[in-house]
Formats: sequence, structure tokens, C-alpha cells
Amino acid sequence: MRAGRMPAGPRGAVLARGSATLGPMSGRGTPAQRGRLITIEGPEGGGKTTQAERLRRHFESRGVPVTLTREPGGTWLGERLREVLLPRTETGAPHDAVTDALLFNAARRQLVTEVIRPALADGRTVVCARFSDSTIAYQGYGAGVPVERLRGLEAVATDGLRPDLTILLDLPVESGLARKAPGDVSRFEAEFDVEFHRRVRAGFLALARGEPDRFVIVDAEADVETVASMIASSVDLLHRASEPERLLLRTPS
Ligand code: TMP
Repeated sequence: MRAGRMPAGPRGAVLARGSATLGPMSGRGTPAQRGRLITIEGPEGGGKTTQAERLRRHFESRGVPVTLTREPGGTWLGERLREVLLPRTETGAPHDAVTDALLFNAARRQLVTEVIRPALADGRTVVCARFSDSTIAYQGYGAGVPVERLRGLEAVATDGLRPDLTILLDLPVESGLARKAPGDVSRFEAEFDVEFHRRVRAGFLALARGEPDRFVIVDAEADVETVASMIASSVDLLHRASEPERLLLRTPS
């Protein structure tokens, strides 16, 4: 299936891949035991935090064990790195983009090893607001670090862990930036111009086109309820898609 924009009301767009996407070094769990990793991505102001929380509640209401986390952050170290990477106050010289990529990936590695892999091994669904695609979009497409270089850092940080489903909350850059509350402006809105954010958005859309089975693009300009219900439809499809696999594994030969 192809990544498709979901403009108004749930429209099937996802995923029939039940296969595990852990890399060779994961060594944890079997496909039957393993939970799902769902990431929420997109440019600024798309409502990722709100929608991640809504998605957590959606899973809980269905009795699905869920862990909600975010990047950068989600661990003690990750939250400290978040303060360094996204200070609310005036910073020194602009960060070198590769330094940024290293720090985001350091936070990512800690989150993957401390939180995400153990949760997946316990069969929990993990919802993560931002993940590796953000580094490709911001430090790669936005700041110009070659994507192959970033892929190398990502491999170290994740040991090949890939999301089962990525929700891309897409919206025009101007609307997204206008939605941010003045106190919620990070270094990336303050230091970078609108062209940077246009490249970031184009980067996310290119990533979605490149992996249409993993991505669902949701029109984040829709109201919160509509966006939440589009996301819920997508994740329900993902979970349904994995059921035959579980049934198959339970069927005696
Ligand atoms: P947010 O959590 O409020 O979306 O803020 C995170 C900011 O950090 C946002 O401007 C995007 C940026 N970011 C990167 O530039 N690279 C990354 O790898 C990640 C995870 C975030």
C-alpha cells in the first residue's frame, strides 16, 4: 500500500506488514511477543504532543498496554540533552549541525536501550513523538548534513530498530509556526528561517514517499478530533494486520 494523505475522515492508507523490524543485533522477543513501535513525526506545530497523548488513551481504552515517550527525552539523560539541545533562553554560537545530530542520536540510543526495546520485548505498544526521521528531516534536509552520514549515526543509535508505523502530521510551514505559543518556541524556530522549515517539511514528505508502507500522512490542519480519529483508524489497521500472524503462530501444526 502507499503512503497517502488522509484529508477528511478515516481512509485506509496503511500497512499490512506484520513482520518484526528489529535489526540483527536486537536479539529480543519473537514476532509473536513483540509490541509495535509507532512514531509521530512532522514539522513544527502539527500537534504531535497532543496526538501522542490521544493515541495513548486510544490504546488504553482498548486494553492495549502502551508506553508513551518522546524525543529528545524520555530518559533522565535524554531530558538533560533536551535542555541542552532546545534551551528556552539565549544560546551561544549556533550549533554545528553534525554536533546536533550526534546529541539527538545519543538521546535516541539511551531511549532505545532503556525504554523502547524493553517495552517492545514485553509486548507493549510504544508511541514515540519524533524518532529517527526527525534527524533526517531537520539535520539532513534542513541543515544540509548528508543523509548517508546521518544513516550511519542512526544505525549506531538504534541497532536497526525501525518504526512499524509512522504518522506524519503534515501542514504548511506558515500555519505550523503560527500555531506555536510564544513560550513554546525552541532554538529551531528561533535560529532557522522559514526556508529551513520548508526543507524540513519537504524532507518528511520525501521520506514518506520513499517508504509508503511505513508512513501515513495525516492533514494536521484538520481539527484535533478529526486528526485523532484518522490516527486511530491507521493504528487499528496496523493491529488488525498483525492478527493473522498471531493466529498462525498459535495454530497447532
Ligand atoms: P518538539 O519536541 O517540541 O517537537 O521539539 C523538538 C525540536 O527538536 C524540534 O524543533 C525538532 C528538533 N529535532 C531535531 O532537529 N532533530 C531530531 O532528531 C529531533 C528528535 C528533534
